[in-house]
Amino acid sequence: MKGVILAGGYGTRLQPLTRVTNKHLLPVYDKPMIYYPIQCLVSAGIKDIMVVTGGNKAGDFLELLGNGKEFGLGELHYTYQEGAGGIAEALGLARDFIDKDKVIVVLGDNIIQNNIRRAVADFFTQPKGAKIMLKEVSDPERFGVADVDDKGNVLGIEEKPSQPKSNYAVIGIYMYDELVFDIISDLKPSGRGELEITDVNNAYIRQGTMTSEVLQGWWTDAGTIESLHRAGLMIAEDGANNVD
Ligand code: G1P
Repeated sequence: MKGVILAGGYGTRLQPLTRVTNKHLLPVYDKPMIYYPIQCLVSAGIKDIMVVTGGNKAGDFLELLGNGKEFGLGELHYTYQEGAGGIAEALGLARDFIDKDKVIVVLGDNIIQNNIRRAVADFFTQPKGAKIMLKEVSDPERFGVADVDDKGNVLGIEEKPSQPKSNYAVIGIYMYDELVFDIISDLKPSGRGELEITDVNNAYIRQGTMTSEVLQGWWTDAGTIESLHRAGLMIAEDGANNVD
């Protein structure tokens, strides 16, 4: 299984912090933000990783991370997303790297307290399809929101709904089989002009091959001033990616 970290975009919700640098290079407590998703994958046993970057200062990723030696990696792969075509478009750029493998995708601004080793191992043995991770939140309208039945099956996902059907946010850690690239090829841009990861996930739900799991421990994104600040506080308190 391979890993892809999505670290592009313009970080507009973090202006002026992102005027001259990429959001994922900003500090979160004692490390640059991009360290957390890399550690998340490495501590789940994923060693074959591609960073998809874009926007400002893309070359700084290479200077900062090199071949990933600090994470025990021998090699790190990079690619560049031009413009802001969305999360699914960014993932599509990793097609040749993933080839026929399964992939775990982590949004570069998502930080979790615990280790996801067990969820990754479950997906490894899942014969086909995809897996998402859910977390109950008090502000679901900021996220992709899962409509879940009483057996815990995900019936559908709505992107930033004004009237959320549940409090379960779909967090930015997604696992896919190789069909994901065919799904991405068929996507049409959303109202905001992006290829949406929620549309990818809904395609798997329609096929009946999506599984889900509720994440234990805290999760936060770090894409707004408020959540970036919260992420720093949580890491100062507990660290990240460190509990099974
Ligand atoms: C993205 C996804 C959303 C998901 C969120 C997690 O939103 O579109 O479904 O819940 O990441 O952080 P964004 O923060 O890029 O707007």
